[in-house]
Amino acid sequence: MLFPEGVAIDGLSGEVTPSTGRYTKKLSELGGLFRDTAAFDKAVAAGDPVAYEVVDYRKEECDIAFGTTIMMPGKIGDEYFMTRGHFHERKDCGEGYYTQSGQGLLLLESRDGEVRTVEMKPGVCAFIPPEWAHRSINTGDEKLVFVWFCATDAGHDYGTIRERGMRKLVVDKGGKPTLVDNPDFA
Ligand code: F6R
Ligand code: ZN
Repeated sequence: MLFPEGVAIDGLSGEVTPSTGRYTKKLSELGGLFRDTAAFDKAVAAGDPVAYEVVDYRKEECDIAFGTTIMMPGKIGDEYFMTRGHFHERKDCGEGYYTQSGQGLLLLESRDGEVRTVEMKPGVCAFIPPEWAHRSINTGDEKLVFVWFCATDAGHDYGTIRERGMRKLVVDKGGKPTLVDNPDFA
């Protein structure tokens, strides 16, 4: 039987207490994500920093799960540190991203090619509808920490975005995050 409990979420560190799982993505695990491969190789060789960490609270016997994503600031070439991006496997599963600290951009793309962005800043909860791929981008100089919540069995389809990329990129143009076409979009 499951019992209720309070889960503390630290809005600055992203720590979840108690948590049920976590993983860390180092830059070297994100090969193919950034266009500037020379800058990518250099950053990996120079210490392979952590790009982001995900902490979760999920119980398989329950339909909802939540947790945090903690994204480090950084850039590879003119692209900011970003998550892999994915669709959910279940076609009826959306998600919420509630930003607690930092600054970012959520890049979304529907199955039929619509592109939208939602600003990620403290106090804003982004609504991610079902069938929209979502990628978080830390456009600031500090950690970007957000709480996510979705169905426990939503599932992740990473392959679609990994194979063909997203239609748009967010790049630093003169210090401003700017949405541009992805020349490599297949
Ligand atoms: C879960 C979700 C987030 C992301 C996390 C890392 O559905 O959207 O927990 O999984 O922000 O991003 P990805 O999974 O795209 O590497
Ligand atoms: Zn998701």
